[in-house]
Amino acid sequence: MGAVEGKVAFITGAARGQGRSHAVRLAAEGADIIAVDLCGPVASAAAPPATRADLDETVHRVEAAGGRIVARVADVRDHAAMEEVVAEGVDAFGTVDIVIANAGISTVDGLFTCTPDVWREVIDINLTGVFNTLVAGTKPMVAAGSGGSVVLVSSIMGLRAAGGIPAYTAAKHGVVGLMRAAAHDLAPHRIRVNAVHPGNVRTAMIDNPGMHALFRPDLAEPTLDDIAGGLSTINLLPEPWVEPEDVTEAVLWLVSDASRFVTGVTLPVDLGATVK
Ligand SMILES: NC(=O)c1ccc[n+]([C@@H]2O[C@H](COP(=O)([O-])OP(=O)(O)OC[C@H]3O[C@@H](n4cnc5c(N)ncnc54)[C@H](O)[C@@H]3O)[C@@H](O)[C@H]2O)c1
Repeated sequence: MGAVEGKVAFITGAARGQGRSHAVRLAAEGADIIAVDLCGPVASAAAPPATRADLDETVHRVEAAGGRIVARVADVRDHAAMEEVVAEGVDAFGTVDIVIANAGISTVDGLFTCTPDVWREVIDINLTGVFNTLVAGTKPMVAAGSGGSVVLVSSIMGLRAAGGIPAYTAAKHGVVGLMRAAAHDLAPHRIRVNAVHPGNVRTAMIDNPGMHALFRPDLAEPTLDDIAGGLSTINLLPEPWVEPEDVTEAVLWLVSDASRFVTGVTLPVDLGATVK
């Protein structure tokens, strides 16, 4: 029997990267999946956009893992769209037990280069989008009265700062406040709310030309391998990054009954970066 057998999980940002990893693993552990992704460009995002083909590949992998899936192109900034997708998922699978608010973008900017438009876009997606996901996903949980588990994806930049990326850092800190407030409000309904804080994860978010150039401005066309040394310096353990599947292990624990009395925690998966 899987760790989340018979459960239904609503996951945002599921077209690729960590969101896809969570969807495929939860399906392998017995869950059905309601998946959302923008599958399109965001002006300020450093990474190239995910595509509809990426989301289709997630569908394929979830089904190959034995899960059923409702996958929709939708924007976490659109509260009504989140409610519509969740309603569709509830129609298909009967309920929602798990919410993973994972969709997010990162930018490459500093305090005086973060324009008001960039600030607004990052806060809208990385904080308001998490609020929209949380509210849309937990309404049917509360109505069903059978409890549940919510994981909000923050970052090590939700627990500390490193200079630069002010909007990203503020949004990810905001996610911690939202998590704590929601843990209070949802506890009477036996719904747990926790946050995970990845360090460097090997996805498009760090493996893109903007990030490569940020760490190695001395090279004409730096690659991910060229920035491994720079990325390693923030970590205690001597590795540059974790894989999406490493974050999934923590998420799976938080959404499974193995953590049934854990709520309101901030769980880093960061090679020790937050204590360095
Ligand atoms: N990769 C890292 O190093 C790292 C570190 C710490 C935290 N994180 C966080 O992990 C989460 C997942 O990121 P990832 O590493 O898998 O990167 P990723 O870029 O591969 O995946 C992010 C996904 O979110 C989707 N998305 C973006 N804006 C959206 C919107 N408005 N509506 C719906 N979907 C949207 C993208 O299309 C993409 O598929 C993010 O919240 C990110 O901030 C990542």
